[in-house]
Amino acid sequence: MCGIVAYVGSKDAAPILLEGLQRLEYRGYDSAGVVVSNKGLKLRKVKGRVADLAKAVPARFKGTLGIGHTRWATHGVPSDENAHPHLSSDERIAVVHNGIIENADELRARLVAEGVVFVSETDTEVLAHLIARTVTETDTLEEAVRKALKSIVGTYGIAVVDSERPKEIVVARNGSPIVLGLGEKEMFAASDVAALVRYTRQVVHLEDGELAVLTADGFHTFASGGRETAKEPLTVDWDAGHYDTGGYEHYLLKEISEQPESIARTLRGRLDERFHIAHLGGLNMDARETRSFRRVKIIGCGSAYYSGQIGAQLIEELARIPADAEPASEFRYRNPVVDPDTLYVAISQSGETYDTLAAVQELKRKGGRVIGIVNAVGSAIAREVDGGIYLHAGPEVSVASTKAFTSTAIAFALLALHFGRVHDLSPADGRRIVEGLRELPTQIEKILEQGDRIAELAKKYAVHPSMMFVGRVRGYPVAREGAQKLKEISYIHAEAYPASELKHGPLALIGPELPTVAIVPDDELLDKNLTTLGEIRARGGQVLMVGHREPDAKLADDVIVIPKNEIELDPILLTIPLQLLAYHAAVALERDVDKPRNLAKSVTVE
Ligand code: G6P
Repeated sequence: MCGIVAYVGSKDAAPILLEGLQRLEYRGYDSAGVVVSNKGLKLRKVKGRVADLAKAVPARFKGTLGIGHTRWATHGVPSDENAHPHLSSDERIAVVHNGIIENADELRARLVAEGVVFVSETDTEVLAHLIARTVTETDTLEEAVRKALKSIVGTYGIAVVDSERPKEIVVARNGSPIVLGLGEKEMFAASDVAALVRYTRQVVHLEDGELAVLTADGFHTFASGGRETAKEPLTVDWDAGHYDTGGYEHYLLKEISEQPESIARTLRGRLDERFHIAHLGGLNMDARETRSFRRVKIIGCGSAYYSGQIGAQLIEELARIPADAEPASEFRYRNPVVDPDTLYVAISQSGETYDTLAAVQELKRKGGRVIGIVNAVGSAIAREVDGGIYLHAGPEVSVASTKAFTSTAIAFALLALHFGRVHDLSPADGRRIVEGLRELPTQIEKILEQGDRIAELAKKYAVHPSMMFVGRVRGYPVAREGAQKLKEISYIHAEAYPASELKHGPLALIGPELPTVAIVPDDELLDKNLTTLGEIRARGGQVLMVGHREPDAKLADDVIVIPKNEIELDPILLTIPLQLLAYHAAVALERDVDKPRNLAKSVTVE
């Protein structure tokens, strides 16, 4: 959420900052700005996209040190004034900021009373003025920033420059990520490695409370008290190529199409054909400890939460351990009972989602055992948990999650197999699941081949302003994720219901104007699901069925038939046509597919 880039070296900063911001645009995209330092600070910022900013930056915008920002509005509407960087009144200090300053109103009132004139509605501007005041009393910019941050309540990832010290940038983090990139006689910083990989793959993650000073020669990091900290650089294994659209029209279609490979990567080296078990070394848990848990509680936000619902179902079915999923954003606020016999599983593609991170921290404070299912290696959640499973799905750029969703479901299948085999899952059932998992990539290829037909169906159904999604038991989280995908990128209203609950309320909505997407796998609930289709059709409702065989013609208007796997794994495959349906509906409605309005990929604020 919001992107930060910073550069100090011998090259022109502006093109590097603009390129980095473009890579980060998926994090926020309502306004953008840059500052470079060259005998004073030069600023350009605009409401709109990074491309609009690039047009506004003049050819002569020279300076070998600078900071940039792309914004997702929290305090104040998207506008030129509210765009970052924010300057102090004397234009000596410039700040870019991710996060939320909770006591901004109080600080603003105090500064206004002292005569400061504010030019924006943002919480960030407070910080620029505060640093400008402290910088005159301190010997270093680092001290000035630290002093100013002492009066802040809230979260931040910041980058600060001072026109009087044109060779250094100070960055700091508390709740919003900052990553340093190490170059040859140059240094970078960003809120996400995506902005760095074109220039360097050597990175250092700041911890909460840490601050760093960057110069062309390197960096120093400090704990909140001022003590210098020692950091080991990590090598990122994603390169710039992973962040290109690779010839696809949108990142979303690229990421949907990549699923045979991303799933294969999640599985790689983790399936054991001999004992029909999963190798999950990252869990840091021996068999005895694995057996000791009596419950599994899964937390995550958005699509991560829905994949957690698929995960809970897999764990209950394969390991016979009670499991359930809950939005991390709710969990963290309801003073949850933390039980020593429960294993907590936090899911996050980015590893940064603030609500999920805060829930993990709350669990740890209460002594809970937490593992993570995370895509971004070295991210905040990955570092906070006791162990876990990395997805290795590769970077996911489009705001709507697709390949991370399916890879998370795969990680849960592995976890459920692992737990199952230390409990009572028979070797024969273990083998069935191992073989089923192996088959998934080829089966996904087969579903992707139906892309053109699904695009036609999407066009047909996208004329409706609203759609219902239904599924039963294993199919219900699939329906929820299908509705989520459709609403977030096409803006068609969509809601998901358990098919069994339809007659307890929402059937009142069903009629010719409200079509239903029905998830109807070939499992023990097939007949019940078909009965539901009959009930919908009897009320004049159109039905688009996704399942494993054509039903009686009277039961569905359209059918997407997909390959059959084991019943426990079918939900993973049933998700794919719904991703394509949402994608093509969004394209048909000419939506901004990769950057849907009002949303951002990494929600690093509450
Ligand atoms: C945002 C994104 C969703 C994503 C959710 C959780 O809301 O728009 O697509 O599912 O965050 O993100 P995470 O990175 O924690 O999986």
